[in-house]
Amino acid sequence: MKNCKAPAFVVAIFFATFAQGVCHHDRGTHSEVGFSGQMEGIHHLHNCGNVSYNISGSSCCNGNISPGLSQLVADCCGSVAYNPLNEICCDSKVLTQSSTHVKCCGKDMYLTTTHMCCGGNRIFNRKENLSCCGNTTFDKTTHCCCANPELVVMPKHETCCPKATDEMKESQQGSPPTLTLPKNSEPKCRTIPFNPQEKMCCSGKLYKASALTKCCGEHVYTLSDDSVLCCNGVLHRNVPEQSECVGGVIYTAANTTCQMSTRPRLGEHCCGGQTFNPRTHICCNGHSHNKMNGNFCCGSEVYDHHNQFLRCCSGHLYNLTQSRGKAECCGNLLLQYNNNQTCCSSSTNSIIYQTKPKHRCCGLYYYNTSLWSCCAEHLKPTPKPNSSPAEYRIKPLMDLIPEMCNKTVFFGKVESVALANYQRHVVLKVVGQVNVKSEKVIKDPWLHVSLDHCNSPATDNGMTYLWEENHNGKYKLLSHPVDLTSDIYMFYSVCYQKKG
Ligand SMILES: *[C@@H]1O[C@H](CO)[C@@H](O)[C@H](O)[C@H]1NC(C)=O
Ligand SMILES: *[C@@H]1O[C@H](CO)[C@@H](O)[C@H](O)[C@H]1NC(C)=O
Ligand SMILES: *[C@@H]1O[C@H](CO)[C@@H](O)[C@H](O)[C@H]1NC(C)=O
Ligand SMILES: *[C@@H]1O[C@H](CO)[C@@H](O)[C@H](O)[C@H]1NC(C)=O
Ligand SMILES: *[C@@H]1O[C@H](CO)[C@@H](O)[C@H](O)[C@H]1NC(C)=O
Ligand SMILES: *[C@@H]1O[C@H](CO)[C@@H](O)[C@H](O)[C@H]1NC(C)=O
Ligand SMILES: *[C@@H]1O[C@H](CO)[C@@H](O)[C@H](O)[C@H]1NC(C)=O
Ligand SMILES: *[C@@H]1O[C@H](CO)[C@@H](O)[C@H](O)[C@H]1NC(C)=O
Ligand SMILES: *[C@@H]1O[C@H](CO)[C@@H](O)[C@H](O)[C@H]1NC(C)=O
Repeated sequence: MKNCKAPAFVVAIFFATFAQGVCHHDRGTHSEVGFSGQMEGIHHLHNCGNVSYNISGSSCCNGNISPGLSQLVADCCGSVAYNPLNEICCDSKVLTQSSTHVKCCGKDMYLTTTHMCCGGNRIFNRKENLSCCGNTTFDKTTHCCCANPELVVMPKHETCCPKATDEMKESQQGSPPTLTLPKNSEPKCRTIPFNPQEKMCCSGKLYKASALTKCCGEHVYTLSDDSVLCCNGVLHRNVPEQSECVGGVIYTAANTTCQMSTRPRLGEHCCGGQTFNPRTHICCNGHSHNKMNGNFCCGSEVYDHHNQFLRCCSGHLYNLTQSRGKAECCGNLLLQYNNNQTCCSSSTNSIIYQTKPKHRCCGLYYYNTSLWSCCAEHLKPTPKPNSSPAEYRIKPLMDLIPEMCNKTVFFGKVESVALANYQRHVVLKVVGQVNVKSEKVIKDPWLHVSLDHCNSPATDNGMTYLWEENHNGKYKLLSHPVDLTSDIYMFYSVCYQKKG
């Protein structure tokens, strides 16, 4: 029933209930696709036929681009993309699901709880003891379905009907055969046994063993030979003395160009392929910039965070001078028209959807509230008509700057979680407070926070998040997990500079 024409790559593991899976239509390398946490824009541009498109905003089906729906969450129905949470593809037509318990029967959909589909295209009311036989139904208590040679319904006593004992046998055949593990004996090189006292095995090749001999991939070398160097499993011969292998690259004293960002043996720092002076310049992803233009990197660019017209969205720098109204980041994209677009995000990815009535985000997914409900970023196929909408979205820490500088916020690490009566009780360890204005300091580093479990985003043990303390002493989760080493410094420096 899946209809993925492009090389299928199922990533349904996110939710057990997300039974239909998600097809990727990516023709490039799979490793670049979403979910890995990579947010570089380059990874979001793919080819559809000869046209390039953004997988974070469109899908490619059979060489056609469907705008408005990211293929990270779409399935293909013939040449159009659809959201498999809320729609179903039957016989190349997209139908709006009436329930999460629908399936296709030919070109129609049916409710699996009340109906059944026989012969692939005929729908019957589901009744106790009623089964399909080809394209008709029969009563299991009085009849059977015989292959005669076509499937026909016969009274139970006919010879073609299976006997009770046959049915028993069939159901017992399912047990898996037990494997007998080979006994562990002498060491083998590929398949050949060898004596490790005399020989050594280098990736399947046998050599005479010696204390000074080492393997390098499938070759051997002696430690006393200083004209060879083994670098990441590749044996290099005739290398100059005192060469070194750093990250798979051989550095020699004569090699004066910058090949990596860290050069252990040269007196100068490298940025990309060039040297740079870290006192006057800043290196962003291998691109060197004058520090005068700013102190923070956004991808490969540098920017001045005091400039309120610049927005850094996960490594993409946007100039807001021309944009009217509110603009906010959605992953590495800029959400401009928040009247007809919605951003759904998980801690690793973000997707822009065309806003639809009675639809909501559940992590990365955008669902019809008549079909699904959402609890702590997990979809459930049981709609909850009266559930209140989540009124805010958690964001990457950088996207919360500078608004957060004004608020009573702190970094809290989730130490322990307990669920009780729809409440999630979280024990937080305060690891840092960004409280520029108020003198109030959180004295006890251990906080007990209660969240409405289903209406709150997921919180992982051991992760640190930005939290807000409201006036009424309640706490609210604000950010995705933060990177303690890089994000927090920027947060502090921006907020404290704001003050001064
Ligand atoms: C795709 O996204 C990039 C940023 O990630 C943006 O610069 C570009 O304009 C987008 N292209 C389209 C066709 O939306
Ligand atoms: C893509 O290919 C089609 C035919 O294969 C052609 O008509 C079209 O102009 C091409 N588009 C681009 C952008 O090259
Ligand atoms: C949401 O699902 C319900 C039930 O199937 C359907 O009637 C409604 O049209 C759907 N809403 C949208 C906007 O598709
Ligand atoms: C279905 O089969 C069971 C067992 O044979 C019987 O007890 C029950 O009455 C049957 N139900 C209907 C609706 O015929
Ligand atoms: C049901 O199947 C039989 C044979 O498999 C076929 O002859 C008959 O036309 C089918 N009936 C319908 C309504 O599809
Ligand atoms: C310097 O290192 C680069 C990168 O490995 C290599 O391609 C180049 O040949 C080296 N130059 C010399 C002189 O060894
Ligand atoms: C942003 O755009 C405006 C108008 O196009 C331009 O004057 C300004 O220099 C741009 N700022 C940056 C940092 O590129
Ligand atoms: C969204 O709204 C903007 C202006 O508010 C409009 O230009 C754009 O066409 C709209 N997009 C869609 C898909 O309706
Ligand atoms: C901070 O608060 C002041 C008033 O308390 C307000 O005028 C200002 O806009 C706020 N700044 C931000 C970035 O929210």
